[in-house]
Amino acid sequence: MAAKTHPGGTFAVGGDLTVTRMGYGAMQLAGPRVFGPPADHDAAVAVLREAVERGITHIDTSGYYGPRVTNQIIRGALHPYPEDLHIVTKVGARRDANGGWLEALAPEQLRAQVEENLRDLGLDAMDVVNLRNPGQRGPQPGSIAGPFTTLAELQQEGLIRHLGLSNVIAGQVAEAQSIAPVACVQNHYNLASRGDDELIGSLAAQGIAYVPFFPLGGFSPLQSGTLDAVAEQLGAARMTVALAWLLHRSPNILLIPGTSSVAHLRENVAAADLALPADARAELDAIGSLACRGAARCARFLLLSGIGGVAG
Ligand SMILES: NC(=O)c1ccc[n+]([C@@H]2O[C@H](COP(=O)([O-])OP(=O)(O)OC[C@H]3O[C@@H](n4cnc5c(N)ncnc54)[C@H](OP(=O)(O)O)[C@@H]3O)[C@@H](O)[C@H]2O)c1
Repeated sequence: MAAKTHPGGTFAVGGDLTVTRMGYGAMQLAGPRVFGPPADHDAAVAVLREAVERGITHIDTSGYYGPRVTNQIIRGALHPYPEDLHIVTKVGARRDANGGWLEALAPEQLRAQVEENLRDLGLDAMDVVNLRNPGQRGPQPGSIAGPFTTLAELQQEGLIRHLGLSNVIAGQVAEAQSIAPVACVQNHYNLASRGDDELIGSLAAQGIAYVPFFPLGGFSPLQSGTLDAVAEQLGAARMTVALAWLLHRSPNILLIPGTSSVAHLRENVAAADLALPADARAELDAIGSLACRGAARCARFLLLSGIGGVAG
């Protein structure tokens, strides 16, 4: 049997949890507005199986996608899981009956979410749980000590191997690190939304993974004439180029692009093999300084579409 390839190479999350740098984000497998079941359940299963077939060993999910829908599809498609597959979830939010996003950060709510993720995914312990800090226009400032301490307690109980953070600023990372080790940070970042440039460097120096959400622009897909021109020059799809740029950006960046399409998944995985010449990289780097309004555009979309304070 041919040796399995590791798309994008690998990174050891928390020092001992080896995942492929090219991962997969499962949010797109739920229904519209990340609510309810997908229109085509079999297509969702096919995407997950293709991801594993392509060598991906990192899947990002949450119990509040659907809610519970993506976790149940993941279990149905992939359980019993390959030994090298690692599923990362996030907690801190819940959905109301209309799909609205509500905070859920009380100790008993966090415990219930971790336990529900474990049940739905068919696991005894989660490899990584991210604490999702609220905020739709960017991270909500303030202390995260309370909820992070609760997750650290669940880690002590053996329900969680590694802890991560999502939608946070540098001060919140430092605060969490005074409570328990932080293995990864999942924030909004892509070619056009570059607010975390400094944070990425400081996390890299500490061996902490940085996992951009909305790597392709999320609800508001990346649009850039420069990206299109570079893609044409390289003979690659625009999203392949956008992901290749992230892989080149810093060795601690792990990708979790989301898609409900096998064809798109293949384009995304192709980023792992796309060489970016220095001149192409320089052109792409410049997009950030010209178009760093991606976060605001996305926040506006979330507001307009009724996706409330803790989307994602
Ligand atoms: N921590 C957080 O707060 C947070 C927030 C948001 C997301 N996340 C995580 O991050 C992951 C990635 O974010 P995301 O899925 O929201 O956004 P994304 O990866 O930036 O973009 C997904 C969108 O791009 C489209 N797409 C994917 N591949 C494509 C391709 N090759 N060509 C053209 N279009 C393509 C998808 O549509 P198709 O389905 O048609 O391909 C979908 O509309 C999520 O799955 C989730 O796990 C976390």
